[in-house]
Amino acid sequence: MKRILITGGAGFIGSHVVRLFVNSYPDVQIFNLDKLTYAGNLENLKDIEQAENYQFIHEDIVNADALHQLFTEHQFDSVIHLAAESHVDRSISDPLAFVNTNVIGTVNLLNAAVAAWKDDLDNKLFYHISTDEVYGSLGETGYFLEDTAYDPKSPYSASKASSDHFVRAYQNTYQLPIFISNCSNNYGPHQFPEKLLPLCINNVQNSKPLPIYGKGDNIRDWLYVEDHARAIDLIFHQGKKGETYNIGGFNEWKNIDIVKLLCAIMDRKLSQDSGTSEQLITYVTDRAGHDMRYAIDASKIKSELGWRPSLQFEEGLEKTVDWYLENQTWLDNVTSGSYQQYYHKQYQQ
Ligand code: NAD
Ligand code: TYD
Repeated sequence: MKRILITGGAGFIGSHVVRLFVNSYPDVQIFNLDKLTYAGNLENLKDIEQAENYQFIHEDIVNADALHQLFTEHQFDSVIHLAAESHVDRSISDPLAFVNTNVIGTVNLLNAAVAAWKDDLDNKLFYHISTDEVYGSLGETGYFLEDTAYDPKSPYSASKASSDHFVRAYQNTYQLPIFISNCSNNYGPHQFPEKLLPLCINNVQNSKPLPIYGKGDNIRDWLYVEDHARAIDLIFHQGKKGETYNIGGFNEWKNIDIVKLLCAIMDRKLSQDSGTSEQLITYVTDRAGHDMRYAIDASKIKSELGWRPSLQFEEGLEKTVDWYLENQTWLDNVTSGSYQQYYHKQYQQ
């Protein structure tokens, strides 16, 4: 039986990847290793937690000794590495947390994999999940391609770029078989309500301000999270070892436009007068070093592996809003406790 270690599986994207693999590959044992930070929530996996081919491991990737033991104990054949600190604003207020998990944690995992696999490296795989933010910021034109030079500009993207470099260095130095994929902004169920879309959904429900950084004209490319999970599955099973794949939605939006679209959907879903939610929009001080535009050219994964996004954006956004409205308890749970304190410190304006 194959044994895949997925890290960060209790988080937003990881929970969709774990679910997809557990359900699609009943003959493969899936181990989900997660520290359960503020962003990790086992409620995200309730529907599959009893599956015979699923096992949760509560651990921190910064704990190198524990990782070595786990590789010996469970004999993983491959790793899909999603565990990370993922929010740019938090990386500005606490960069070292990002160095610890994203850089040191990734190197710990690489060391554990190389040590455990050294006699049979050809049959192993280390798949590292990364972001388009490593490429920096675009002007009005152009796209990020797989060979675009790295130019990270936030502590978050610098930590992810560093981890990408380590993964490639381990391929070159120790012949570790790897994949890296760099994806654009994800949206969908289970996203922690500190990121733009779930934050706004939560705030509309509570009649709180919708904070728009700067003028709201920064651009992001948005992809439904299940389409990202499908791309990861495809790369894992059919990608060419050693390759990098960019994943994106072919779907660029200015922040202010996406928030207005979301407001219109929320008004309809909550049976409010049109324009009610938009009145909550509040322009606030810009994020320090705010990247202007991200845009992915995903033609490589499209032409080589036949992947493309399955959902139209408005359809995906409606599904997302429906999920949050139907899962108020989930929102209540994650917005209480330590997150709440952080939220008040950041956005009391
Ligand atoms: P998330 O913050 O929702 O989840 C991260 C998960 O990692 C959580 O379950 C958390 O508990 C776990 N974790 C954090 N530190 C850990 C540690 N030290 N040890 C073990 N587990 C730890 O993040 P996400 O949005 O799901 O992102 C997942 C991955 O995808 C990250 O590597 C991120 O850089 C990448 N990514 C995210 C996006 C996006 O739009 N969210 C886009 C491209 C790439
Ligand atoms: P975010 O969801 O934090 O993702 P990322 O910074 O990784 O792209 O932010 C998406 C965009 O929305 C980004 O340009 C910053 C902006 N933004 C706001 O305008 N207000 C907010 O409250 C947040 C969280 C983000």
